[in-house]
Amino acid sequence: MNKKILLAIAAILCLGLGIGLTVSAAGHEYVGAAKCKMCHKVQSTSWAATKHAKAFDLLKPEEQKNPKCIECHATGNVADHPSVQCEACHDAGKDYMPMKVMKDPAAAKAAGLNAKPGKEVCVKCHAAKSPTGNPNANFKSFNYEEAVKKGIHEHKPKA
Ligand code: HEC
Ligand code: HEC
Ligand code: HEC
Ligand code: HEC
Repeated sequence: MNKKILLAIAAILCLGLGIGLTVSAAGHEYVGAAKCKMCHKVQSTSWAATKHAKAFDLLKPEEQKNPKCIECHATGNVADHPSVQCEACHDAGKDYMPMKVMKDPAAAKAAGLNAKPGKEVCVKCHAAKSPTGNPNANFKSFNYEEAVKKGIHEHKPKA
């Protein structure tokens, strides 16, 4: 069995037991936003000013341990990656973040990068229920086009 399959099994076991994940469903490890910041200053600085960057702070201390809340208020279901970080949208980064991989879009994609997170990524959280059925009591509505404009982070200026 290869490492990816083992990691995926570990992820499923953790999910079943209600323990936080450190690996995505596709078997890649989460690294946290500080790692992305080393190379993506523009996006990181502007992301830090968005509501996503503070989504974990909306939870009371006991809720910060509740998997039913963490699923949408943290990254990869784990309290040690609080709030909606880069990898909540772009997917877990350990395998795509090395410079050699990042510079090659095809290799980055193969290593798990979602370069253009679409509506299907947002509605895992911006919906009345999560994919595993946990309710979002605060849900009103969600419009992808408007929400993207409202602010995810600034984009690299086109050359
Ligand atoms: C060692 C430096 C480095 C690190 C660390 C890094 N990146 Fe990158 N990333 C790059 C480079 C170089 C590119 C190529 C394009 C560019 O210059 O923006 C890139 C491209 C991207 C793209 C655009 C890909 C495309 O095809 O348009 C995304 C999205 C991205 N990175 C997200 C992330 C995320 C999320 C993290 C953290 C998990 C991360 N990167 C960590 C260097 C890095
Ligand atoms: C399906 C994903 C999801 C789940 C599960 C979830 N939330 Fe949220 N929560 C959101 C989103 C998205 C928002 C922003 C409002 C919206 O839906 O547009 C939000 C907003 C909030 C807010 C701010 C409300 C406001 O009026 O500004 C609080 C507080 C909150 N959630 C607490 C919780 C708690 C406590 C739990 C667990 C019992 C929880 N959430 C579970 C996705 C979720
Ligand atoms: C892991 C869960 C998660 C994902 C994935 C996610 N969001 Fe969110 N988002 C939240 C939560 C939780 C909040 C509430 C933060 C708050 O109210 O302070 C939020 C807030 C927002 C807001 C701020 C709303 C306001 O009132 O200003 C926008 C805009 C937004 N999200 C857009 C998006 C878009 C676009 C995507 C997909 C590209 C996305 N989100 C993906 C969980 C998520
Ligand atoms: C709520 C979802 C979401 C979060 C969180 C998020 N991004 Fe993005 N990111 C996007 C979307 C959507 C695009 C635009 C894709 C497109 O249409 O080209 C994008 C594009 C990018 C790009 C491509 C170049 C550019 O500037 O457009 C990079 C690099 C990037 N993001 C890095 C990051 C980093 C680093 C973080 C964390 C600090 C982060 N992203 C957090 C959704 C997100």
